[in-house]
Amino acid sequence: MANFLDGYSIQSWLESCPQGYLEGTEYGHERGQTEPELVLTDPFMREQAISLTVQLVAGERCALAASAGLIGCAPDEPSKRFLATQTLDEARHVEIFSQRLYDLGVKKSELEDVVAQFANPNLVKFAETLLEKVHGGDFVAGVVGQNIVLEGMAFSVFEMLHASMINSNPKFAKILTGTIADERRHVGFGENRIGSLIEEYPEKKPEVQKMQKEMSHYMLATFADRFRDGAIAEQRRRMQERGEASDVAATWKGLDLGVASSEDLEKTLSNVVLGEFKTRLERLGLEYQTP
Ligand SMILES: [Fe+2]
Ligand SMILES: [Fe+2]
Repeated sequence: MANFLDGYSIQSWLESCPQGYLEGTEYGHERGQTEPELVLTDPFMREQAISLTVQLVAGERCALAASAGLIGCAPDEPSKRFLATQTLDEARHVEIFSQRLYDLGVKKSELEDVVAQFANPNLVKFAETLLEKVHGGDFVAGVVGQNIVLEGMAFSVFEMLHASMINSNPKFAKILTGTIADERRHVGFGENRIGSLIEEYPEKKPEVQKMQKEMSHYMLATFADRFRDGAIAEQRRRMQERGEASDVAATWKGLDLGVASSEDLEKTLSNVVLGEFKTRLERLGLEYQTP
């Protein structure tokens, strides 16, 4: 085990992350980068940006609580040390997305109220399902729930957001680039560490699979809520009015993000994430459960 976790040491983390791709950044973006004027001045665009960012804060708060909690129940020292680096990564994600809320004009004293107001109830249930396992000291279920399910989801959501923001909001896109690099490392740890544990404790499979099914259900419900309110079309309309439509043009998984319907966006994102769950879980010897 020591061997396959070598790439997950604190030394590797220092070299690749704080001294690597994060060097010179400020709250995850280049110094001096700001939010686009339209997002800051148009009340609808601003509220949409706040609402989206709150989901990221809520997801990252869950990842912070989960990675910190898993240190206590990890069965070996290399895993505890990796999870310590992950805990700092997740705390950073909470901080940079909270900072984005402040950049969008949320006052520090309003933060908790804004999070409570906008956090999607299905995303809250998704987080509770995972944290119940972590608080029960279940390392195998906790790592599958966090490093495969939560982070598999986050990874694809961030990639899609990054593709849609790369031209219209370079500051937010840059924040996402560093976060995606972190999430890639976290998913890699989950895959490397959990396979042998599943082999060791095959009796855990049904319970872990049940958790995956439940988390996937709440994830799809969150996506449905987020894509079905017509907000995407309205944001495009406002950008078009300002002559910014051409800036949106970007593709992700074959979809033109500037024109794709909300239904197509939701369907593609759901299929990509569930497809990745299936591949990863089967590689680990787990059976994917359709939500
Ligand atoms: Fe994260
Ligand atoms: Fe993560």
